[in-house]
Amino acid sequence: MKTTISEVSKYVGEEVTLGAWLSNKRSSGKIAFLQLRDGTGFMQGIVVKAEIGEEKFQDAKALTQESSLYVTGVIVEDTRSPLGYEMQVKDFEVIHEAVDYPITPKEHGPEFLMDHRHLWLRSKRQHAVMKVRNEIIRSTYEFFNDNGYVKIDPPILTGSSAEGTTELFHTKYFDEDAYLSQSGQLYMEAAAMAFGRVFSFGPTFRAEKSKTRRHLIEFWMIEPEMAFMDHEDSLQVQEQYVSHVVQSVLKNCKIELDALGRDTEKLEKIQAPFPRISYDDAIQLLKDKGFDDIEWGEDFGAPHETAIAESYDKPVFITNYPADIKAFYMKPDPERPEVVLCADLIAPEGYGEIIGGSQRIDDLELMQQRYEEHDLTGDAYKWYLQLREYGSVPHSGFGLGLERTVAWISGVEHVRETIPFPRLLNRLYP
Ligand code: 4AD
Ligand code: MG
Repeated sequence: MKTTISEVSKYVGEEVTLGAWLSNKRSSGKIAFLQLRDGTGFMQGIVVKAEIGEEKFQDAKALTQESSLYVTGVIVEDTRSPLGYEMQVKDFEVIHEAVDYPITPKEHGPEFLMDHRHLWLRSKRQHAVMKVRNEIIRSTYEFFNDNGYVKIDPPILTGSSAEGTTELFHTKYFDEDAYLSQSGQLYMEAAAMAFGRVFSFGPTFRAEKSKTRRHLIEFWMIEPEMAFMDHEDSLQVQEQYVSHVVQSVLKNCKIELDALGRDTEKLEKIQAPFPRISYDDAIQLLKDKGFDDIEWGEDFGAPHETAIAESYDKPVFITNYPADIKAFYMKPDPERPEVVLCADLIAPEGYGEIIGGSQRIDDLELMQQRYEEHDLTGDAYKWYLQLREYGSVPHSGFGLGLERTVAWISGVEHVRETIPFPRLLNRLYP
């Protein structure tokens, strides 16, 4: 019977065959322990000389790291391993012998590993991070589908910029100028007027010259947009959504979180509602913590966000930023027009901003005024203005950065480990 490591629990006491790679190996004179991986998981195979015979045992001892194999044996329970099962190997056949696999079980530096990303992905740690990423994506679709949202795909090649014009990737579109999308938001607003509640999931691009553990050039965003929902309604969706994702990972990625050494007690606490602090109060909090240089009207940097997050054991919303440091489409607070109805959600443990969101301007005249202030001339934004001409309604939305969320939930330090093939300031290879 051919099966996979993820399915072995169904075959206790039975003989099965796996296609696998050898990720590691230890042996003594009489017994060899093969660390097998097949993509679905990791499992130990035990080869006993007295059972398999001298010749086959010597073949097992000579197996090289990352050689591909068909392994046949009996599945037995093993309470010491995270999987709970191991295989008593009866026979194996080498499909392809790997010679001098570059990533050995010893330590390697990050640049070396990044140069070998196409192979590094096979490691237990990277496997665990990608499985967490996959569960976040799965539970995202689950959450929005269960709550009546329609998945809508905004374009990647666009003529407009949602988040400022300085970090755009420029390209030619035949004879026209085009950009890679920084955010699908403007299109998602059009979609919300057609479908009510929508969400997108796709790649976004920012030509940011930032070389930090939180910045990628190409990253994936989940962008919900909701008609007839105000800022407060949107915050409630955000805290419920993030709680759902964290609880789903806790439930469905036990082996992976264990492999990553993640402190799951911290994740257990991530349940809605989340605390909120206004931008004004955050400035005061920072001053109290000894940040003397920060003044009202300035944006927060990573150290500020980390200092604010330290006061909470859940993600915290920082609300109502000054209009001047936020995007053109955010709705001013009617009581206090110098601030906007927006929030950034800051993850705990120093992982920084994972969501940016706001209520959008729905008034045509005010939007026209913003166009003038931001010099949004030309045809590229005409259609966006029309959304305010025909049945405009209060609406809100947000964008969750997938990689920062993966980093936080997995507990990995740098976003370069949270996407299969990271695009960084100095890296387009592999
Ligand atoms: O705060 P941002 O720029 O918001 C928007 O783009 C809105 N248009 C979203 C919306 O309302 N639909 O980006 C949203 C999130 C950030 O909170 C962060 O998690 C992530 O995207 N992000 C990045 N992640 C990795 N690398 C970068 N360079 C990122 N820039 C933003
Ligand atoms: Mg932001």
